[in-house]
Amino acid sequence: MKIAIIGSGGREHALVHQLSKSKKLTKIYTIPGNAGTGEISENIDLNVDNFQELYNFIAREQIELVVVGPEKPLVEGLVDFLESKKIKVFGPRRSVAQLEGSKIFTKKICKEFNIPTAKFEICKSKNEAFDFLSSSNFPLVVKADVLAAGKGVYICQTIDEANAAVNEIFDGKFGNAEQLLIEEFLQGDEMSFFIISDGNSYKTFNTAQDHKRVGEGDTGKNTGGMGAYSPSSLINNDLEKKILKKIIEPTLNAISKMNEKYIGFLYAGLMIKNNEPYLIEYNVRMGDPECQTILPLVDSDLLEIINACCNSSLAKQEIKWKNKKSMCIVLCSKGYPEKYKRNVEILNLKELKIKKDSFIFHAGTRKLENKVLAIGGRVINFVNISDNYSSSRKEIIYHIKKLNWLPGFFRSDIGYKVIKE
Ligand code: AMP
Ligand code: GLY
Repeated sequence: MKIAIIGSGGREHALVHQLSKSKKLTKIYTIPGNAGTGEISENIDLNVDNFQELYNFIAREQIELVVVGPEKPLVEGLVDFLESKKIKVFGPRRSVAQLEGSKIFTKKICKEFNIPTAKFEICKSKNEAFDFLSSSNFPLVVKADVLAAGKGVYICQTIDEANAAVNEIFDGKFGNAEQLLIEEFLQGDEMSFFIISDGNSYKTFNTAQDHKRVGEGDTGKNTGGMGAYSPSSLINNDLEKKILKKIIEPTLNAISKMNEKYIGFLYAGLMIKNNEPYLIEYNVRMGDPECQTILPLVDSDLLEIINACCNSSLAKQEIKWKNKKSMCIVLCSKGYPEKYKRNVEILNLKELKIKKDSFIFHAGTRKLENKVLAIGGRVINFVNISDNYSSSRKEIIYHIKKLNWLPGFFRSDIGYKVIKE
């Protein structure tokens, strides 16, 4: 089978790595890819925003299946476009990708279907928001109703902070804003919960714990994710049942009622308090770095699983998991998530001797002649699977230190809540 993966991050390198193991695979392209995907697939340098150009390439190469990694092309309707041209695509259509594209869309579903989530208010103007805030308790959360890569969320301790957030959002910091969301602040522990769905049935796709803050001890600015481990230590049978019955199934029912189907990965960002789940947000894709963390634990053919989702036959497909723990630590460019240098060479990558249960997934890298250059904030994901998080973390840090990339930094405390030493 000839397939193409859309995207260029660590998530996509992990997808390409896992899909490459399939016996069904004959050729794999990554569009546009990074230096890592270029080693194991053919990178095609196309503009992912140009759907027609993508289609022309896919049709010319007779690609049989397209896997869409990131949220932006999903929310902008790439799946609808390719399906209209009779191309098989793995990912949700635009109307259901609103689960990630519009926080207000998701909140309305929560309200109608009684899905546990933070109490919320939708405000259509600055004055409406200021009025509501003047009689609110703090802390609370102000959110822009757009795709903002996690940046449109303000956790506010005071009314001044909240008013400033309202001003920023309505003044267009995240593009044109017609409304925003004010939410109750949920206490508890966060967990990333995944399913994979073919539109008729779904299967769970493991859990992970992401570390979003840039600094040790979960301090400092929010990032795309500095590291993760899987499975989450919070998950248990009772909690899983509650997540499926109270959150996932009502959401899939809501989608059926819209006469739509959900095909793809669905990622629920949850807050867990006293073994009860609350939905913080949905993402209509795998997480990054959760994907890099979870995929090495899959012990079945991922291409068969994804293909089954596109053929409505997931129910017949078994998904086996390795009985291991996985950890990922992200090596970032110094300065991230703020300003950092681009096009900085990463030396010594080829010299790293990686053992069987360790993986290196590139994120913001590109190849120039024989050099690998860092071009993004998150640069390389180091993953290890083993019997315990502590030994995985040691193995990863050993490799990062061996690489000794001085323009980079990483968090050495990923998993600190589950590693006592
Ligand atoms: P989101 O982009 O909605 O995932 O929000 C980014 C991060 O903000 C989440 O991962 C949480 O850490 C935090 N967050 C968002 N909403 C809430 C909430 N209602 N209560 C507490 N924390 C929140
Ligand atoms: N790791 C968070 C995300 O992918 O949204």
